[in-house]
Amino acid sequence: MANLCNVDGVVTPEADARIPVLDRGFLFGDSIYEVVRTHGQVPFGWPEHWQRLQASAAALRLRLDLGEREVARRVAATLAAADHGDSYVRIIVTRGTGQSPSIDLAQAGSTPRWVVFVRRLATPPTDVRLCIVDRLRVDRRALDPATKSGNYLNNVLALAEAKDRGGTDCLMCNGEGNITEASTANVFARLDGVWCTPPLTAGILAGVTRALLLEFLPTVGERTAERDLRPQDLRRADEIFLSSTLRDIGPVTHLDGQPVAGGKGAPRALQLLQRFRERIAQRLREHDEPRWRGLVSG
Ligand SMILES: Cc1ncc(COP(=O)(O)O)c(C=O)c1O
Repeated sequence: MANLCNVDGVVTPEADARIPVLDRGFLFGDSIYEVVRTHGQVPFGWPEHWQRLQASAAALRLRLDLGEREVARRVAATLAAADHGDSYVRIIVTRGTGQSPSIDLAQAGSTPRWVVFVRRLATPPTDVRLCIVDRLRVDRRALDPATKSGNYLNNVLALAEAKDRGGTDCLMCNGEGNITEASTANVFARLDGVWCTPPLTAGILAGVTRALLLEFLPTVGERTAERDLRPQDLRRADEIFLSSTLRDIGPVTHLDGQPVAGGKGAPRALQLLQRFRERIAQRLREHDEPRWRGLVSG
């Protein structure tokens, strides 16, 4: 089955989908998005992702014209048509088609454009080589990284810099020299027996997985802290992992070309990954699946 997408309610093969050139997502990255993963046809963490989409819309003064049920139905219809099993779902909302290529919101149309992509879920990489790049994470006062906008050039260029240095992903610092996050993931480092992750005030996306992990880790006897981290903190960490919807917990193998913790791997993170996935499966059965079925049926 070809990759499918849903543009304004119509399911089409990805290759046939068309977006007008005056769409503000195309012109200015004037859009927001969410990535959700499914287990079979059921998205995990839908309430959290839906809530974050609404927060991103509010931050960009973008008025969403569709409610949760209609969006969920479009996602479900696209998933059913694609029938991939475990899937990657990307929901994009642009500010729609304006009257001219002007940045002025007065020239913008009033109907957002909704696109849903569905793809077969890929296996996350196991060789994760992070490089702390020179390019800074965009300042929260300029364009808050907490807003999941379609404007990802900061991350695109930071990732390219990391790849130039032989890395597979980047870590960006903020203007104060503190670690923020990777190109599409949050970061955790184990320091003196505590899993530390940068606070939201560092200028990061409030990752759904990050929040779930801050809840989950103490329930399995792990200590956590949200605190500013310097590059030298990461260099002395016992283990480092990335967190995101697509990888849950992704152990980091190298930092700036050096094996993390002398190359002893990330045994604790791998154990936690297994337990976290068991917890996800339980939540899916007990909460996500019944709620999702209720949302898309009737
Ligand atoms: C910049 C950035 N940080 C963190 C994350 C992880 O967020 P989540 O756990 O909600 O997938 C993402 C996910 O795309 C991201 O793009």
